Amino acid sequence: MSTSKQRAQLLLTQMTLEEKIGQMVQFGRIKPKEKDLIRQGLVGSFLNHRNLTLVNEIQRIAVEESRLGIPLLIGSDIIHGYVSTFPIPLAEACSWNLELIEASAKHAMVEAASDGVRWNFFPMVDIARDPRWGRIAEGAGEDPYYGSEVAKARVRGVQSLNADGYPQAAACAKHYLAYGWSEGGRDYNSVDLSEHVLRTTVLPPFQACVDAGVMTFMSSFNDVMAVPASGNPFTLRTLLKGEMKFDGFVVSDWESVEELIGHTTAADQKEAARIGLLSGVDMDMHSGVYLDHFKTLVSENPALEALIDDAVLRILTVKYELGLFEKPFVDPQLRENVILNPETVDMTLKVARESIVMLKNDGTLPLNRTQKIALIGPFGNDPHTPIGCWGAAGHHENTITVTKAFDDAQLNYTFIKGCDALDPSKDGFEAALAAAQASDVIVFTAGEHNLMSGENNNRAFLDLPGVQQELFDALKATGKPIITLLFTGRPLTIGSVIKGSRAVLCVWHLGLSSGTAITETLLGINNPSGKLVTTFPKTVGQIPLYYNHKNTGRPNFRRYLDCDETPLFPFGYGLSYSSFFYDKLTLKSSTISASESLEVSVDITNTSDRDGQEIVQVYYRDLVAQVTRPVKELCAFKKIHLNAKSTQTVTFTIDAQRFGYFTANFRFIVDPGAFALWVGPSSEDGLTTEFTIR
Ligand code: BGC
Repeated sequence: MSTSKQRAQLLLTQMTLEEKIGQMVQFGRIKPKEKDLIRQGLVGSFLNHRNLTLVNEIQRIAVEESRLGIPLLIGSDIIHGYVSTFPIPLAEACSWNLELIEASAKHAMVEAASDGVRWNFFPMVDIARDPRWGRIAEGAGEDPYYGSEVAKARVRGVQSLNADGYPQAAACAKHYLAYGWSEGGRDYNSVDLSEHVLRTTVLPPFQACVDAGVMTFMSSFNDVMAVPASGNPFTLRTLLKGEMKFDGFVVSDWESVEELIGHTTAADQKEAARIGLLSGVDMDMHSGVYLDHFKTLVSENPALEALIDDAVLRILTVKYELGLFEKPFVDPQLRENVILNPETVDMTLKVARESIVMLKNDGTLPLNRTQKIALIGPFGNDPHTPIGCWGAAGHHENTITVTKAFDDAQLNYTFIKGCDALDPSKDGFEAALAAAQASDVIVFTAGEHNLMSGENNNRAFLDLPGVQQELFDALKATGKPIITLLFTGRPLTIGSVIKGSRAVLCVWHLGLSSGTAITETLLGINNPSGKLVTTFPKTVGQIPLYYNHKNTGRPNFRRYLDCDETPLFPFGYGLSYSSFFYDKLTLKSSTISASESLEVSVDITNTSDRDGQEIVQVYYRDLVAQVTRPVKELCAFKKIHLNAKSTQTVTFTIDAQRFGYFTANFRFIVDPGAFALWVGPSSEDGLTTEFTIR
């Protein structure tokens, strides 16, 4: 048993029932009433405060004025940076650079911890296949294997050690469970999926977080298989705390225990509190139902106190592990050194560069510095949109916009907004068209502003909002070449924009260094290397559309009369200024046993005269199995740097266990038989071979 757990156990023996309940309570607001609750030991955590003076003050009340002096745990959402804003998680995941992903989580946490945040409600590891759902922006896309790798990197970054040798903060795997499956892409909506999909596709990134030592989990708003996730003994106790061996604690999402009433699985607050406890939700976020009802519930059924003890033990263990008992306060000086520290700001640029995905280029890019540019569209000088859906303490004054970066690079350009992202006014069209006429090339910024994705920002249409498409069409009619910069938090159905543009860069919501990364990429100073981690559909009617779908019994039948079933851009897709040639796919042995590894090698040549980075992807398919299996599944990847005109042999060692699966009865097996393997630049391309597991 860990020392922290032993200490927690000892402390538990000294606590009254009221004090134990207090540890399970979290509030947002801090008014005199809450300060009084702290004094009485009746609240253990607060969330979403960025004022260090206040945080230190309430911590002092907890430590010095409450009977047992148990420190508070301060939580917040540091999803993509604190003051130094990083690209949104979906964009960052397109870098396929796990080191960078870990580093950005670490840098963000160092900043936030200097304001007293020691618990981060991050990472969101929900696999998402529906871009209508606004929260697709917060995750790592559609693939369970890749999502698991990113999840681990993010947990490592958040829980990296601080100068005192304690984790910077506790990470929080969310939203448990299957929140990304909300029907119709409508946030908070019902989720119904098979236990097979749950175990095969939804659970792996959560298990990866447990394996990486994540300290907390968050139970989600939705119901899953007819039981709300925040009142679900099967998902929380049987799976998470049982099978998955999670020994940290579970916090509910915002008031989601009380919302059991809305779900109609609890008649009132008292029943909601009882179900939350029985199900294994250890801390109630904000609703207060634990505080208000646990004492009565225990008086009616004393056996419940054992569950309270278990929850409190888990919570206190985390508090000890974070070193909160030793170091409850944060030195205000620290902030000065870490906020917007040049190294962190530089990291925002590095991540932004690698998050950009080049979707099209007919050779118009990179731009030549002497070209006269008409910069048109709603986002050219917008400092808010790059801040993304979880701005935290990010401030728009710190954003480097495209216009700012163009100025810094002394480019020859005219900026005309032309239209707003949402407002239907076309008053700006005339000036935009005049600027376009007078230019050599149009750089058109199009897409969604930052608050169109993220929580409860769902869309039924995924084309360009407002009159942006009309402006694009008018610009197109000028005959001038158009380069489109796509600002977005999700895949958009923008086939005609892709077709009508000479080049398209998906620049997402890239954070503080947005304009610099974009300008460097336009000029060829940065060679784009990002690849999509989420499929771009052609039209909303194709959703859900994902690369790792099943074959069906009739794979050759047309799915739609009025649209084909191929995506606009597939998972794993992205271009570069370099070109890469794949050759000599070799297996060390094409037959392996279930306890061996498959050794794969491939030669990649950078045939261009530009140094570049390539994301080499390995996919497999189990050709015959006991259950239906995906037509392709990612099983390994490497991001490599390759100098111009050079060749590298890239090798992969893939454990045969990776080719295993769950049977219909959820038994994990590695099935003997034949498999197909692809190594290539995307989920739709590559060299292929076969191997056998004997
Ligand atoms: C969100 C969570 C977030 C929590 C606390 C909720 O509305 O669903 O993702 O961590 O608020 O801010």
